[in-house]
Amino acid sequence: MNTKIIRTISEMRKISSNWPTSVGFVPTMGFLHEGHLSLIKTAQKDNETTVVSIYVNPAQFGPQEDLSDYPRDLKKDIELLAELNVGYVFLPDDGEMYPKNFKTWIQVEDITEIMCGIARPTHFKGVTTIVNKLLNIVRPDTIYLGEKDFQQLIVLKTMVRDLNMPCEVKGCPIVRESDGLAMSSRNIYLKGEDRDKALCLYKSLLLAQKLFSEGVQDLELIRSQMEDIIIQNDGVIDYIAFIDAESLKVVDELHKGCRIALAVKISGTRLIDNLQI
Ligand code: PAJ
Repeated sequence: MNTKIIRTISEMRKISSNWPTSVGFVPTMGFLHEGHLSLIKTAQKDNETTVVSIYVNPAQFGPQEDLSDYPRDLKKDIELLAELNVGYVFLPDDGEMYPKNFKTWIQVEDITEIMCGIARPTHFKGVTTIVNKLLNIVRPDTIYLGEKDFQQLIVLKTMVRDLNMPCEVKGCPIVRESDGLAMSSRNIYLKGEDRDKALCLYKSLLLAQKLFSEGVQDLELIRSQMEDIIIQNDGVIDYIAFIDAESLKVVDELHKGCRIALAVKISGTRLIDNLQI
């Protein structure tokens, strides 16, 4: 089957009102990389039909953030999706998604006010609103999301659970460059030596895991050693959080299955990463 490009909500709803098979959905903001493609391949393995959306959602960017600079390459994205034989690509524009009379927002409490929610206070409200809309339009059986954006994954799982949305949420592992940098559309901003410096996020996570496996339990010691690596690489730390992987609550003690998540700026580019202990 050829990849079908759909630009309007009405056309997408016509198709989704009567899906004959199981449908997997991968929402993206485009500028696709192997991280996105791994979600798509998992969706294709699990379902007969796969839908990918590409939409740079203005509502999840703060006023000082990179909405206008956000990398875009729609032609290449569509080529990649056609190569993968993706069934449907949904490409709405701002007029479709946020018409002039738009007034309704979805907000998950508490877990959006910590970690990334501190530096980006309106971000998750934009994410939950757009994903809610996309799920209503595409009506998939399962949505595939990356653990790269771990807080986003938990926030969206919470929204789907609390609002009894008829959809499963599947989290997929982080895909990394060969040296360990977590893939991200924003990595294109990393020029020259900043690309090497950006590795400090993953290096600090690996060090934390090593310390934990050696029996170190003092979280302040682990935090300060992580900070050293990041500061040596001129990184500006937004947060380092030791969290329970289900509730996102800060833990006093590391245990198997909890996560370390961090956000760091390298020459102005804000990067996030996390690792399961
Ligand atoms: P975007 O950053 O394009 O990411 C789309 C999906 O790809 C998200 O679920 C994200 O977690 C996943 N992803 C990104 N990099 C990854 C990596 N290295 N490994 C595995 N998965 C990765 O996240 C968004 O867009 C938006 O917030 C969106 C959910 C589309 C709502 O606008």
